[in-house]
Amino acid sequence: MAKLALNGGSMAAADLEIPRWPQCTEQSRENVLDALESERWCRVTDGANWVDRFEAEFAEYHDAEHAIAVSNGTTAIELSLRACGLKPGDEVLVPAYTFIATASAVACMGGVPRFVDVDPETYNMDPESVRENITDRTVGLVGVHFAGYPMDMDELTAIADEHGLFLIEDSAHAQGSEWRGQKVGTFGEFGTFSFQQSKSLPAGEGGIVVTDDELLAEEARQVHNIGRAVGEPGYKHYMLSSNYRLSEFQGALLSAQLEKLPEENERRRRNEKVLISALSDIDGISTKPEDDRITARGYCIFNFRYDEEAFGGVSRDRFIEALNAEGVPARTGYELPLYKQPAFSREQLSALVPPGTDLPVYRHMHLPGVEEVRRTNVTLSHNVLLAGEDGVRTIARAVDKIHEHADELRD
Ligand SMILES: Cc1ncc(COP(=O)(O)O)c(C=O)c1O
Repeated sequence: MAKLALNGGSMAAADLEIPRWPQCTEQSRENVLDALESERWCRVTDGANWVDRFEAEFAEYHDAEHAIAVSNGTTAIELSLRACGLKPGDEVLVPAYTFIATASAVACMGGVPRFVDVDPETYNMDPESVRENITDRTVGLVGVHFAGYPMDMDELTAIADEHGLFLIEDSAHAQGSEWRGQKVGTFGEFGTFSFQQSKSLPAGEGGIVVTDDELLAEEARQVHNIGRAVGEPGYKHYMLSSNYRLSEFQGALLSAQLEKLPEENERRRRNEKVLISALSDIDGISTKPEDDRITARGYCIFNFRYDEEAFGGVSRDRFIEALNAEGVPARTGYELPLYKQPAFSREQLSALVPPGTDLPVYRHMHLPGVEEVRRTNVTLSHNVLLAGEDGVRTIARAVDKIHEHADELRD
């Protein structure tokens, strides 16, 4: 008789209750209504203060001297690159396993993304691969704290210092993550964050950049406000730039959402430990290593790696199908390494860089760490970690059940 839900058996995770995301709290309603009724909906209107207030709150939470709110996490990277002085044709090192924005922002600002490998254990930029890819045209790197698990900031800051490179920490996944007692985003020139709906600090859309450098902060403020100088409203514009501003509604909403983030992250961390411990008993499942230098965690997703050999040769995609049928909403994650994305075709890139710029040939690339992660990764969203200890144990039970009955899935 079939045991797996995919084959008509009962669901192992039928009782799994995942809190909905995002959540409209009473405070969110109150703040947004306040912004609405104030009739000051744009931050440059006299008397508007929600975006100012949120910037101050986020800077304090993330141990940063300055924070500049922007329209989303993609423009946060673009603005940081611009403020760091990226010139057309400059090379910037980026991981090849991430959301496209980490690298497309470089290309859209006229730079050349150079893809580096990731460590399959952590999914983060592999410092060795970073070193190997530095050329005389490299000006900086944009690393990602993937899934909120911090990059090795000891290694990456040392490499950046040694080679005179700027370092931008794409922290879109990492609101609240900490390395050696310091929140991420402030180790390099800029940290960038996304507040898109699925993130753990959501506003539908939104982003922010943080920095400890006063001059960079001033440059970023000018870039974000279509070239106006700081403290000079009106119609004198000192640089050609775009409008990256966040609306007052989003500032008001984010201020309310930020209030609950620290406690939620602590709960996610507790439940993640329970889940990692339960999964570690299952042959063929590996989770990210514990690292004492990571002193606090933020989250966007939770990943584990699946070894099909240990599941009798059942493919990762078939395993995910079976897990979904058991009631666990797992996904494959990014299906293409960035070097295989159609958007990074030679034709498209060469239209954005100065004529004659030497471009890497992406389509022949094969980075072993990236290929391993894309083949074996299983992703759960961060709100699964809010399902409570019993909830996350149910997830591990469903994985274990599939392991036990893998023979039902063989073709
Ligand atoms: C790693 C990473 N960087 C940047 C972004 C871009 O953020 P946004 O969607 O707010 O533009 C995302 C969004 O998912 C992301 O995951």
